[in-house]
Amino acid sequence: MLPDRVLIVEVGPRDGLQNESTPVATEVKLQFVRRLVDAGLSQIEVTSFVNPKRVPQLADAPELIAKLPNAADVTFSALVPNEKGLDRAIESGVKRIAVFTAASETFTQKNIGMSIDESMTSFASIVKRATGAGLSVRGYVSTCFVCPYEGEIEKERVRDVTARLLDTGVDEVAISDTIGAAAPTDVRETVGFVLENIPAEKIALHFHDTYGTALANVVAGLELGVATFDASAGGLGGCPFAPGAAGNLATEDLVYLLDRMNIRTGLAGQSDVDLAKVVDAASIIANALNRPLPSAQWRRMHGSCAGDGA
Ligand code: HMG
Ligand code: MG
Repeated sequence: MLPDRVLIVEVGPRDGLQNESTPVATEVKLQFVRRLVDAGLSQIEVTSFVNPKRVPQLADAPELIAKLPNAADVTFSALVPNEKGLDRAIESGVKRIAVFTAASETFTQKNIGMSIDESMTSFASIVKRATGAGLSVRGYVSTCFVCPYEGEIEKERVRDVTARLLDTGVDEVAISDTIGAAAPTDVRETVGFVLENIPAEKIALHFHDTYGTALANVVAGLELGVATFDASAGGLGGCPFAPGAAGNLATEDLVYLLDRMNIRTGLAGQSDVDLAKVVDAASIIANALNRPLPSAQWRRMHGSCAGDGA
């Protein structure tokens, strides 16, 4: 039994851009977000309130959030790593935040300068303060399959960190394949194990596509009953603190797959996500970066191969 409707969480403006060294102007990011809204995406992670010295591309988070379009039924969110990030997020007026930890100690340390235990203690207080201020909170667990520093990750660690993160009060956890190493067998084993204790409604899947396995992993996730998937327009993305992390699963490739499988991608009563409009949104960033994007749909529509400079 596959879900008949999927929620796509668009992470292009955040995960897609955070790894790009060419500065993208706030106005260009806003055009990108406006087109993503126009394409029918209803949850869009737009930026991060992290140390701007570590992720300079997203240093304009407050200006970006101040200028977001007024879009009914669209939820914009931002990453928050610590109390300082939460102060900035609340001040910006964003309504949803995401905290992030990992199943690997080394990656957690390199990414946010904390142990997993420290991150849980910090998030418990962040979630309490955020929800008290009327914000909703999602959580990420990175390196759920393979860690660039520690190698293979045991499914028990993923289940434990996911359960602890849910206990802090986040409303869903995105189980994340940070370096895009997983295959469907890994998804069945690890996510299937997590779902023995945690309902599928609480789980999202976040795949990077380093080895081209992301869409196959989505199918494995759908077969397990998961109905929320993260994706990034154009297939942009990567984590500056995870060597080897390539782009995210491309939103337009995910939309093609779901359309073809007759799985709805719009909110109930609304149109599905429009594939051509997602590609149109991604083109804003391709133009800004002056390079083609890796998604199959982007290349199909632009008649170019990734890396040919078109
Ligand atoms: P820190 O540098 O380790 O610690 O920051 P610090 O507390 O010593 O602070 C150093 C400086 O940063 C100070 O300023 C602080 O005020 C400032 P200075 O005195 O040098 O002028 N600072 C901040 N400024 C603005 N906003 C803040 C903030 N916090 C401290 N929130 C911190 C700790 C976690 C902030 C830092 O390590 C950091 O920014 N890390 C970036 C993490 C990141 O963005 N990673 C990528 C996103 S996660 C991801 O991509 C994975 C995901 O996609 C899922 C997957 O694929 O796996 C979600
Ligand atoms: Mg990611």
